[in-house]
Amino acid sequence: MAILKIARMGNPVLMRPAEPVADPTSPEIKRLVADMIDTMVDADGRGLAATQVHVPQRVVVFRPPPDDPTTSDGRTVPVLALVNPEVTFLTDETEEGWEGCLSVPGMRGVVPRVTKLRYRGVTPEGQAIDKTVSGFHARVVQHEVDHLDGVLYPMRMKDLSLLVFESEFDKLMAAASDELPAPSKVAD
Ligand code: NI
Repeated sequence: MAILKIARMGNPVLMRPAEPVADPTSPEIKRLVADMIDTMVDADGRGLAATQVHVPQRVVVFRPPPDDPTTSDGRTVPVLALVNPEVTFLTDETEEGWEGCLSVPGMRGVVPRVTKLRYRGVTPEGQAIDKTVSGFHARVVQHEVDHLDGVLYPMRMKDLSLLVFESEFDKLMAAASDELPAPSKVAD
């Protein structure tokens, strides 16, 4: 087990597209994924991309939402690790929701995301994943795969007045909860 150092916004490793992984089931990838999961859990995050731990390869880990915690074969998994993920949007419709990011600590922002998508990839065990998801699950996938393309959530925001410090978040929600997305929708 190893807790890895998390790169913060401004670090060049977060800005560059990551490279495809040649062998998703290699011991190196298994070790990377195990360390990424340890790091995500330690930081209390919902997801983590390899670029965030200074590894420019196309690997993400994330916790599927509680209402959809399964892999393609129906196994329940608390954390899904995906190598070489690919996303296909299934609608033009977007919705706004709050996100946070371990590479942008202490902040949250409202980000528009496509509401329905298909994602594919392979696990470090060699299992093919192919899922069609919507809502928060789709948001988490977009956030993590964006990391592999050098994109952080503030770069997706349309209204930077909704980029706020966590210490102000509860006050903002109390004052303007009718106009803003629900506060529970946070990804990492
Ligand atoms: Ni993030």
